[in-house]
Parts: sequence; C-alpha cells; structure tokens
Amino acid sequence: MNTDPSFEENRQAPILEPPEGSEAMHPEPADLFESNPVDLSVLRELEGQNILNAGQFSFAQVTELCKLAAILEKIEIWPYHPLDGKIAVTAFFEASTRTRTSFESAILRLDGKVISIADGRMTGQAKGESLQDIGEMFNAYADLIIMRHTETDAPDQILESLRIPLINAGNGSGEHPTQALADWFALLKWKPYLAEPHQGDDPKLKLGILGTPGSMRAVKSFLLMSLLFRDHIRKVTVISEMADPLGADVTEHLEAASIEYEVSNDVREHVPTLDVIYMNSIALLGDSYKTLDSRFKLNSESPLKSDAVVLHPLARLDELDTSLDTTSHNLYFSQAHGAVFIRQALLMSVLGRLKALPNLIDLSGTNDQPTLGETAIGSRFTDPV
Ligand code: CP
Repeated sequence: MNTDPSFEENRQAPILEPPEGSEAMHPEPADLFESNPVDLSVLRELEGQNILNAGQFSFAQVTELCKLAAILEKIEIWPYHPLDGKIAVTAFFEASTRTRTSFESAILRLDGKVISIADGRMTGQAKGESLQDIGEMFNAYADLIIMRHTETDAPDQILESLRIPLINAGNGSGEHPTQALADWFALLKWKPYLAEPHQGDDPKLKLGILGTPGSMRAVKSFLLMSLLFRDHIRKVTVISEMADPLGADVTEHLEAASIEYEVSNDVREHVPTLDVIYMNSIALLGDSYKTLDSRFKLNSESPLKSDAVVLHPLARLDELDTSLDTTSHNLYFSQAHGAVFIRQALLMSVLGRLKALPNLIDLSGTNDQPTLGETAIGSRFTDPV
C-alpha cells in the first residue's frame, strides 16, 4: 500500500487506451459500467473461494466481474498495487499459450508475484509424486494456485490437501470456467444490455456452438455459463459431427434451465440466422488431441449476418480462417485480450483485495468518449470500497 498522504488525495486512475487500429476488435469497455455501477458486495462473495466450474457462478457474480473488468481495462491499476504481498503459483500440467500468460500478466500488472510452472513435467509428478503431496507443499509457498491438468479429476486430487484457493485453468475434458468468464466479458462489452435482466424489447440472441460441449471443456463451460443469460437467448444450436455432442450431464443442465436448444450436423443451414457463433475444433483425448471435422469451417465468405460475432477460445486451426480477422465479426481477439482484465477482477475478488480499487476514476481524458469528468467511486461502485 502507498502510505504517502498526497497519493491518497490524488487517487485518480489514468486512462488506458486500446492499441490504435483495433476498434473493431475492442468493443468500448466504458459502455458496460458508465450507467451501471459495480456492486462490490456481490464480488466479496468470491473471497477465498475455489473457482472450479462455470455453474458455480450466479448471474450477478458474472456481470459484476465483467463490469469491474471493464473498469480495469479502462484504467491503469498498477499504481494501486492491489496484489502487493500476494504470491500465486501457475501450475500447468498441459500446454497453454493464453491462459497461463494472461493470468501471469494479470497478476504482475496487479503487482502480485508469480511462481510459474509452465511444464508440469518439471515437478515431482515426473517422479510419481501425487497431486495431494504437491498441494500440501503449495500451501506453504503461495496464496493461490492456478492449475491446468490433462486429468479431469486433477482439481479433486489436489483439493484433498490444498488449503488455499484453487482456480481451475482447464481440467481434461472437464471445464474451463475462467475462459467462460472471458467469453461473456467479450459479449457483454459487445452488447452491454446483456448485463441487465431482460427487458421486453431487448432482442434475443440466437447462439450457435460448433463443437462438442459434452467433451470439450471450453465449449462446455461457455454453454453452462450461457444458461445464466437464458432470458436473453432465443435458441441454442449445437453443431457437431457427433450423434450426441451434449452428453447426459450437459443435456440435464439444458433441460433444467428450460432453454430452447437443438443439435445439428450442418453449419451451413444455421450460419445466416445466428447472432453469436462459438467455435472450437480441438478436443483433448487423453494425452493427445483430436481435430474435429473440417466441414465446420468459417471464413469471410461465410454467409454470416452482418452484425453477427464469432468467438473462439483459440488455439485455432483451419476451421477459423484468418480472412475473418479484419472483419467486424471478429470478437475472438477481444475475447483473448480481455482475458487479462476479467482474470484481474477475479483475482482481486478471490484474494480479498477489492479494497485497493482507486477512489476516483476520471474518464475525462478519454479521447473519443463523452467527457464524464471526475466521478466519485460511489457512482461506479454501489458498495463503497
Ligand atoms: N483459451 C485457452 O485456454 O488457450 P490456451 O490453451 O492457449 O491457454
């Protein structure tokens, strides 16, 4: 914490602008919180919690996390040192480009410290050590564990001994809950009305999912988190080469949510009517990867609705052609870039550091935005810091 009294008086966050030329891929974050203050009391519910699956979140927790993430995307937070004194271990027993580095970027930009295990084979697991024993050690070394593993039951194993919070960064064919938060953060910036309960004249979205929610963790977590937004959704269409891409567990959740859904095996039939298309083609099967049928491809010639957006957790192969990158359909780069800010919001909540948020947020310096002037935190946060 900065104890300089002049620092306290002038606690006012400067503005962080998106890189030039990236407007199409960066929906304006301020639209999400300008007229919709963050309720910090909702986020305090997450303090000390394990983050294991998408279904554990409430609608309010997801929307408040996204609104806080939008503020964090708009300001420079590092001068407030929110994670000062906190240590996180990123323990990755499976390959990652985005999840580990965006978590580490989030922690470092919050002035926390990271013990990075980029390759789990460098731990005692290579010598047969159990996750239970590894967890017992982590209790002594850190305040939080962020773990990815090829085994679906890896979180259960490490939680047998872990006494500090665990964030599941992907467990086999299980779940990837923070990816789902990044997905919905991108969608809420795109259509801020989604962060509110459905109003009579709000348009309802047609959601298309290319992949197998029953066995692909990112697709599964996205679909399960989407159920929180069911009042905004007209229909979910799952498009897959498999006869039963949902599986019994996901089907049960869909039925319980009373959401309209269908399963199809031909993307061409549905693309012209979909508002949101979520794609993924790489499925983990044991220790190897399977690529789904390349019939399920999109490119800039695909007959997308003019205002439709495409999401993809990435990494991509040829199912998502690079010709879409420079179109307004590309929400997948915003999805990946925004992951840093939604993970910052989650880390500050789980580690109990929301009190470090600045008291004043001055948006008057934003070049292309209306001048809002200096605004007390009370109008940005309903439950003062
Ligand atoms: N979206 C995602 O999980 O990407 P990585 O596998 O690169 O972490």
